[in-house]
Amino acid sequence: MAQKTKILIIGGTGYIGKFVVEASVKEGHPTFVLVRENTTTKHPEKANLIHNFKTLGATILYGDIHDHESLVKAIKHVDVVISTVGGGLVADQVKLIAAIKEAGNVKRFLPSEFGTDVDHVNAVEPAKTTFAGKARIRRAVEAADIPHTYISCNGFAGYFLPTVGQMDTHTAPREKITILGDGNPKGRIINA
Ligand SMILES: NC(=O)c1ccc[n+]([C@@H]2O[C@H](COP(=O)([O-])OP(=O)(O)OC[C@H]3O[C@@H](n4cnc5c(N)ncnc54)[C@H](OP(=O)(O)O)[C@@H]3O)[C@@H](O)[C@H]2O)c1
Repeated sequence: MAQKTKILIIGGTGYIGKFVVEASVKEGHPTFVLVRENTTTKHPEKANLIHNFKTLGATILYGDIHDHESLVKAIKHVDVVISTVGGGLVADQVKLIAAIKEAGNVKRFLPSEFGTDVDHVNAVEPAKTTFAGKARIRRAVEAADIPHTYISCNGFAGYFLPTVGQMDTHTAPREKITILGDGNPKGRIINA
């Protein structure tokens, strides 16, 4: 029987990453998760999540996107690298690209996307800057000649609806709503 693709997830303890880790293991892929050594110190609630990954059969590797050696070492274990790092680290994925190039064994890279197709968008701030950062990472992946897949799955209702799309709160706004841009850009809702 053909060997299952070995997968490394960077950002596996995040909002989206945890689902990717679980799906990878459940699909039978040897699954590795790069976790920061201080993750459970900073977020004690993530200890259960990491324990669950181990119980499912994932292998935890310690490292950091800012630690080149740890990235190269982790990447050498796998065929596919999936990044699910958060918005603040999108630009830092150039470090991941450098490590993938040095490791030399990766058959496919999925940078952290999981949203709008950033090459076909006309957004207002603050999304505009985030999308531009993701587009720059696409160009860097292509320039490095790394086989890649970009996952564009649009916005998650579960993420945006509870706050009615407000970026500065985690709860439903009751007093006021901030309208982004000048209030005139047209929106489009696609029912999949
Ligand atoms: N379509 C949508 O509606 C939607 C919604 C949300 C997000 N997204 C997109 O999905 C992607 C992931 O976002 P998210 O919200 O899931 O991210 P997140 O919850 O902020 O998770 C960030 C992950 O990156 C890890 N990380 C942070 N600093 C790191 C470092 N220095 N080295 C290695 N790992 C580090 C975190 O680890 P720790 O646990 O150690 O902090 C965590 O696992 C982004 O591209 C985002 O734009 C899309």
